[in-house]
Amino acid sequence: MTHPRDDRAQALAEELKQRFPDAESHWAASPGPADVTVLALPYDAALQVARSAGAALAGQVLVDICNPINFSTMDGRVTPLDSSAAEEIQQVVGTDVKVVKAFNTTFAGLLTTGEGHDVPLDVLIAGDDSAAKDKIAELVRSGAMRPLDVGPLRRARELEAMGFLHIAIQEPLQLNWHSSIKILP
Ligand SMILES: NC(=O)c1ccc[n+]([C@@H]2O[C@H](COP(=O)([O-])OP(=O)(O)OC[C@H]3O[C@@H](n4cnc5c(N)ncnc54)[C@H](OP(=O)(O)O)[C@@H]3O)[C@@H](O)[C@H]2O)c1
Repeated sequence: MTHPRDDRAQALAEELKQRFPDAESHWAASPGPADVTVLALPYDAALQVARSAGAALAGQVLVDICNPINFSTMDGRVTPLDSSAAEEIQQVVGTDVKVVKAFNTTFAGLLTTGEGHDVPLDVLIAGDDSAAKDKIAELVRSGAMRPLDVGPLRRARELEAMGFLHIAIQEPLQLNWHSSIKILP
């Protein structure tokens, strides 16, 4: 018997194939393991899945999108001050996997359109491997958004603090998850 999560994942994969047939022919033309994996999970699950995936992730770009918030207090993050979720994940997967922090400062609702307030969303990206960041930047551009390379993986500390702040101000400023972080020159 399969796990209900696997059944839902399979159903989603089928739905995506129907909605994006061009992507399906692209997938069919490049069989084999994915070269990018996105951990779209809460932090504790992301860490657990990264740990258990082990060698299956070798050679891949692993995108960490999480905001490791302390959901008991909603008043801070659960990671050590001198680290970040992305760095903790990098530690458990080892150097064969290139971890990239991205998408944690953009809300899901706006990501589906790629824009907020009629301007392309900024997707802030941090990582230690340039080729891995380039790959994610290309993915971001293909969604009509603007990738911004903010530096090495340790910049994830600031990105996660930014993500936390962005979440924390939703209710007081009545933003209703429709706000975005835009870097203007
Ligand atoms: N939503 C946003 O706008 C947004 C924006 C930026 C970053 N993020 C980050 O993206 C991540 C996902 O956010 P979300 O809003 O999609 O959260 P969510 O609605 O809570 O979804 C979490 C998903 O993770 C699955 N999951 C939980 N524990 C798991 C485990 N141990 N093994 C496998 N799957 C597990 C859940 O499956 P079940 O339903 O079966 O439990 C669910 O499908 C979070 O880290 C969040 O901080 C979200």
